[in-house]
Amino acid sequence: MKTRPRDAVTGAFGYSGKYIASRLLARGSEVVTLTNSVSRKSELTGLKAYPLNFDDPDGLSRSLEGVDVLYNTYWVRFNHKLFCHADAVRNTKVLFSAARQAGVRKVVHVSITNPAHGCGLEYFEGKAELEDALIETGMEYSILRPAVIFGREDILINNIAWFLRRLPYFGVPGNGRYRLQPIHVDDLAVLAVNHGASFESGIVQAIGPDTFTFKEMIEQIAKVLGVRCRVIEVSPGLAYWTTRFFGMALGDVILTREEISGLMKDYLHVEAPPSGMTSLLGWASENADVLGRHYASELRRRRNREVEYVSFS
Ligand SMILES: NC(=O)c1ccc[n+]([C@@H]2O[C@H](COP(=O)([O-])OP(=O)(O)OC[C@H]3O[C@@H](n4cnc5c(N)ncnc54)[C@H](OP(=O)(O)O)[C@@H]3O)[C@@H](O)[C@H]2O)c1
Repeated sequence: MKTRPRDAVTGAFGYSGKYIASRLLARGSEVVTLTNSVSRKSELTGLKAYPLNFDDPDGLSRSLEGVDVLYNTYWVRFNHKLFCHADAVRNTKVLFSAARQAGVRKVVHVSITNPAHGCGLEYFEGKAELEDALIETGMEYSILRPAVIFGREDILINNIAWFLRRLPYFGVPGNGRYRLQPIHVDDLAVLAVNHGASFESGIVQAIGPDTFTFKEMIEQIAKVLGVRCRVIEVSPGLAYWTTRFFGMALGDVILTREEISGLMKDYLHVEAPPSGMTSLLGWASENADVLGRHYASELRRRRNREVEYVSFS
């Protein structure tokens, strides 16, 4: 008798993890999730949740027993008094070694476009270190490198729309000509699950069909929403301090200096064929009535581990 494959996903009550877990459940896998938000509200049902407790590597390993593929989405977006990149790097290494100890065949790991050692940006450096660490474990691996992920639970595109709806001007840092290639979250999930099923290791550029300059993307989203906000070029410093000011008012971190720098260095762009087919603007048009109606707060998600990840429904 054929047994159900058992797979594990980190953060299945979060964003990309939820779509990956949904796709795995739909194809008949038994799915466990490792999460620090075991009681977070989610529309996803039918999976078992274990704590993502990095202080208990043996416990992590036990929760991964019998797992064929581990899908890892765990990471922290920026340094903050509550969390930091260095912890995320250390913790992810603990997770990889627990997976190896448990006999996991493969890790599908979500990284970022252009991870780079010594680039001066901790996000991209940490991701480079983790890609190397995963390869060194000797497990099979697929490393997916998305630039920006969009979907119903997204923060970046939703909050751009939120500001476009409310402000007369939207300032892009510098000339706005640096590029990005957004991928839809479910396209990323399909890619992840397909790579999980393969017995080959490799690195995949997880990008969508469109390449925009940042300025073009903002202008196109404004057009789709039918708002009159003017997109203007401002110095990176002014862009940072403006978002910092709004962030303080909203109790959130909207954009960090490092994120502005990564964008402006063109780190969210690669020369590669698309691996997702959903166009950001097509999706934004379909969701134009709801996109950006509510602000999506990164810090609220971190502080409140019960609240569902939804920017709009
Ligand atoms: N979102 C994007 O636009 C984007 C773009 C490029 C690359 N990526 C990469 O895609 C992966 C998944 O991103 P996502 O947006 O889908 O993330 P997410 O669902 O918000 O979080 C993924 C996992 O990381 C944990 N996590 C997130 N922030 C944390 C923090 N500050 N402290 C402790 N744990 C934290 C979550 O914890 P819980 O288990 O408690 O929920 C969850 O397990 C990440 O590796 C990210 O670097 C994302």
